[in-house]
Amino acid sequence: MKLRLITSLACAVVALPALAADVTYRKEVAPMLQKYCAECHSEKAGAPSMADFNLDQEKFKKEKVGPRSDTYEHLLQLVNGKSTGAFMRRLDDGTSPYAGGKQGNMYKYLCEQESKDGKADKDAPVTNPECAANLAVLKAWVGEGGWNLNRMAARGDVPALTKEQMDKVKVKY
Ligand code: HEC
Repeated sequence: MKLRLITSLACAVVALPALAADVTYRKEVAPMLQKYCAECHSEKAGAPSMADFNLDQEKFKKEKVGPRSDTYEHLLQLVNGKSTGAFMRRLDDGTSPYAGGKQGNMYKYLCEQESKDGKADKDAPVTNPECAANLAVLKAWVGEGGWNLNRMAARGDVPALTKEQMDKVKVKY
């Protein structure tokens, strides 16, 4: 009896969707970024490292490429490295503190886009649930309390990231 209970509990756990602690770069994040972001953020696309991107942002914007996020090391620059918070600012759905209710400009890439050509409001917020579901996975990967839009240094009304906030970032490989 006891054994059966344990067995069914174990099955229930297995059946749950990816638990926060289970999300890894290798299993979930890399394939997602490959699918949705590589076109403009990979070595193959001619994307620069974060350091090179910062040397001449205007040039790369014209070429329509952003900093590389196609390896764990490159990606971490945007998550908890020198450009910490860039990942969160660009991908936020507008609900985080300091987002000002606006979706980050890369949020829309987290799902297949219906063509907005000819639509009255090309800047209307994205409502596709696929974008929301993918954001939830990325937030789980970053970790509870680790998804903060703050930078290393204060800017305007936005205070600098705190040590406590930084310590919450998990980003398991
Ligand atoms: C069609 C091309 C394109 C796609 C697809 C795209 N991006 Fe970008 N991304 C850019 C360009 C160009 C920039 C630089 C211009 C800017 O800052 O908006 C950029 C900038 C960024 C930045 C800010 C870098 C910084 O520090 O200034 C982040 C973070 C980012 N993208 C993440 C992503 C993620 C994650 C995805 C996939 C979900 C994605 N992008 C998909 C073109 C793209």
